[in-house]
Amino acid sequence: MPGNSFGHIFKITTFGESHGKSIGVTIDGCPPMLDLTEEIVQELMDRRKPGGSKASTGRKEKDKANIVSGVFEGKTTGTPIMIFIENKDAKSRDYSEIKDIFRPGHGDITYQKKYGIRDYRGGGRSSGRETAGRVAAGSVAMQILKSENIEIISYTKEFAGIKAVQFNLNDISKNPFLCPDMEAFKLMDKEVVSAIKAGDSVGGVVEVIVKNVPSGLGEPVFDKLDADIAKAVMSIGAVKGVEIGNGFEATKLRGSQNNDEITPDGFTSNNAGGILAGISNGDDIIVRIAVKPIPSILIEQATVDIDNNQMKISTKGRHDISPIPRINVVCEAMISIVIADHILRQRTIS
Ligand SMILES: Cc1cc2nc3c(=O)[nH]c(=O)nc-3n(C[C@H](O)[C@H](O)[C@H](O)COP(=O)(O)O)c2cc1C
Repeated sequence: MPGNSFGHIFKITTFGESHGKSIGVTIDGCPPMLDLTEEIVQELMDRRKPGGSKASTGRKEKDKANIVSGVFEGKTTGTPIMIFIENKDAKSRDYSEIKDIFRPGHGDITYQKKYGIRDYRGGGRSSGRETAGRVAAGSVAMQILKSENIEIISYTKEFAGIKAVQFNLNDISKNPFLCPDMEAFKLMDKEVVSAIKAGDSVGGVVEVIVKNVPSGLGEPVFDKLDADIAKAVMSIGAVKGVEIGNGFEATKLRGSQNNDEITPDGFTSNNAGGILAGISNGDDIIVRIAVKPIPSILIEQATVDIDNNQMKISTKGRHDISPIPRINVVCEAMISIVIADHILRQRTIS
């Protein structure tokens, strides 16, 4: 089935199911001579693994990254890189009760209807675990970004209905929800605790900022930089919306307010989010990603089984309360892959 690969020159293919033997990624088109070790990959992988916050599952996913190919003596060789991660904490019995029943909000029903067969354990390929391969690939893409002095950060802009009002870069690492506003974090924490008590789940908004991106990246018209970023993040499970720069807010403004005026020293504002006509304009790229609440909840809801019998379901197992904050690094990884791909594409024309 096509659809598991992404990118043009820096091309990734993720493989594996949540409860199969292993999951991972192959990357074709990575340039030679970049520094790459399992430790470099692991550093990013560790930011995705659960256990860091109340909003994450109690599953123990060590996610040890194994580089199988494409690296020699700590440098990429220009040949395909394969990275795999063993699934060590795959407790299939946790999922036997949902073998023939569809969880509302999850991909069980659509996978069954499309393929007529599915690995029901943990959602198979529609599991959040698939994102481990993306993060491994992201760590390689980030080496390309690093070689160009490009920086990328992500943080939680909104969580469980609470917005971050202040922005303090140093606060992001000081709280488990990766929020740049400690006061907002405390309110978020209350909401998350209340959702946990209710057996429910929550969503939120992640913001990613990419700094020092050169102008000129993006391939109009179908591979515009913003179009590729949107596809990259929309392909992550639970992502339901993407905004670049002012995004939906721009609809409420007049052109005179929304335009970024131009001076010999650059733009006076960044409502465009660093992209004009699908091409980077040299300003920071700003992306906001809307993340829905986790579908698997303890609260009982109506559903059907594979024979279309009306049933009730309450999903037990060990689920996240929210994809946030684990999804933050996945968004960073996917956007890094897009930027890396476009850097390599730009090198072919300039
Ligand atoms: C990092 C991450 C972790 C996730 N954890 C869970 C989980 O524990 N339980 C669950 O039901 N869904 C989880 N999801 C969400 C499902 O993967 C997603 O909702 C499902 O595939 C349906 O796809 P859709 O929400 O994009 O329509 C997670 C997603 C991500 C990105």
